Amino acid sequence: MDKIKIDLRSDTVSKPTPAMKHAMMEAEVGDDVFNEDPSVNALQEYAANLFGMEAALFCSSGTQTNQIAIKLHTQPGSEVICDARAHVYLYEGGGIAFNSSASVKLIASERGLFTANEVKECINEDNIHFPKSSLVCLENTVNKGGGACWEWEEILKIKEVCKQQAIPFHLDGARLFNALIAKNQTAKQYGETFDTISICLSKGLGAPVGSLLLGSAQHIYQAKRIRKVLGGGMRQAGFLAAAGLYALQHQVDRLKIDHQHAAYIAKILQGKSWVKFMYPVETNIIIFQTSAHLPSSELSTLLQDKGIKISNMGNNLVRLVFHLNQSADDIDFLANTIQSIDK
Ligand SMILES: Cc1ncc(COP(=O)(O)O)c(C=O)c1O
Repeated sequence: MDKIKIDLRSDTVSKPTPAMKHAMMEAEVGDDVFNEDPSVNALQEYAANLFGMEAALFCSSGTQTNQIAIKLHTQPGSEVICDARAHVYLYEGGGIAFNSSASVKLIASERGLFTANEVKECINEDNIHFPKSSLVCLENTVNKGGGACWEWEEILKIKEVCKQQAIPFHLDGARLFNALIAKNQTAKQYGETFDTISICLSKGLGAPVGSLLLGSAQHIYQAKRIRKVLGGGMRQAGFLAAAGLYALQHQVDRLKIDHQHAAYIAKILQGKSWVKFMYPVETNIIIFQTSAHLPSSELSTLLQDKGIKISNMGNNLVRLVFHLNQSADDIDFLANTIQSIDK
């Protein structure tokens, strides 16, 4: 096998650019548990302003920001409403039960994009037999929905349902900037609508580590206490925060290049007889299913032999994720390789 030329397994494999590394090495740092790291403070302030929210908290991962938010909004025995494909439910190690002792009501939607009516149907009446519905959690873009983006109107309708029932509204915005670009939406729209928002710096934005939880000053004050309990209080974290700030200031607009790469490759895949089904490609993720005559495991091996890594998701579904470490030449090589596979 050749060495890996193109890694499409996830945008989490993206690495810091030389300019980002420079920003990290130049960072002024202090003890962030004492609120004394100027680079962490600068990142938190920048992100809060970007979203028009009162405060932000720098955390180690998107799992941590989501889990802190869930803990903030729930009580043991209460219930979180989210999609059956949600990262908070599927891929956070059972954290909702482990950290918050909360139960979950799942919505089985198309591509993770549920409706306000579906949320309404999930809300339990106030009756001692039922768990108290305590949080609605939405993901944008939907990772397991192939990078699907929400329509703004539906988000507003869900917000209205939450408001009527006094239920907090959390956004897992691990790839929110991809959605903002694809849908021409703004961070401030989201800041006005959600009680808490998690954004990731270490996916398409290319920082090595880190996520931010955004919310009211009171929520973020409580969040800091929960982060400490989870072992997430970091000391001279400014080296990492500087990478995150660099990412927010310099590497957001370029996400559109990843979307163009994904659209270009999707078009080529659609012409192949061995592609049975593909989710609409809206951002930097392609998820498709291979036909029985080319099982996904065989496709992975064929690509791996050319130095191209992809993710297998079971049931012959594969995922390709585009990010900043893939050059135009890499994308041409990928396109030619896909074209050459005939089955
Ligand atoms: C939609 C979504 N939310 C949250 C996360 C968690 O992020 P982390 O890997 O930083 O814990 C991921 C990770 O891929 C994700 O795709």
